[in-house]
Amino acid sequence: MIRRAVLADVDAVVVIERACFGADAWSETLVTAAVEGGRSTVLIDDLDAYGVIGVAGDVADLERIAVMPSRRRQGVAGRVLDALCAAAREQEADRMLLEVAADNAAAIAFYAAHGFTTISRRTGYYRGGIDALVMQLELQEDR
Ligand SMILES: CC(C)(COP(=O)(O)OP(=O)(O)OC[C@H]1O[C@@H](n2cnc3c(N)ncnc32)[C@H](O)[C@@H]1OP(=O)(O)O)[C@@H](O)C(=O)NCCC(=O)NCCS
Repeated sequence: MIRRAVLADVDAVVVIERACFGADAWSETLVTAAVEGGRSTVLIDDLDAYGVIGVAGDVADLERIAVMPSRRRQGVAGRVLDALCAAAREQEADRMLLEVAADNAAAIAFYAAHGFTTISRRTGYYRGGIDALVMQLELQEDR
């Protein structure tokens, strides 16, 4: 079941972060700030997948989406993304933006499968000089 994360979920989110992002994982402090702060919407699914958006004006930034390795390719991230899009629309966003490492083939394929298109490239944006792709999804009313 997908629901809003609460402070009691912080430990589970940190476990997901470490399993999915390694050295780039958010710390407990960052996760706590996202869950507690008013700016972000943090959704969690059965303690092994989660996603975060931040909405400013008509743009929702997809800050995080991650699924524990043992639960991948079962549509879990798709359901989390759908719930994040619904939350973004509720907050009056009409598009979602994200940055993804150009070598993260799984994530790029996932976003493309869900209708995101690449709108620009940020050269050397990530550690090790890896480029970022900036991808966008229009948030239609009927999706
Ligand atoms: C990217 C990620 C969130 C996808 O999660 P998931 O639950 O496995 O995704 P889904 O099962 O909902 O995938 C839906 C579709 O996305 C595409 N997709 C997902 N993973 C893919 C992969 N490894 N290779 C190719 N296509 C993939 C496919 O089209 C898939 O549909 P299919 O399984 O019917 O072929 C997951 O791989 C992950 O947590 N990665 C590590 C964290 C990360 O990189 N997050 C994004 C940072 S920008």
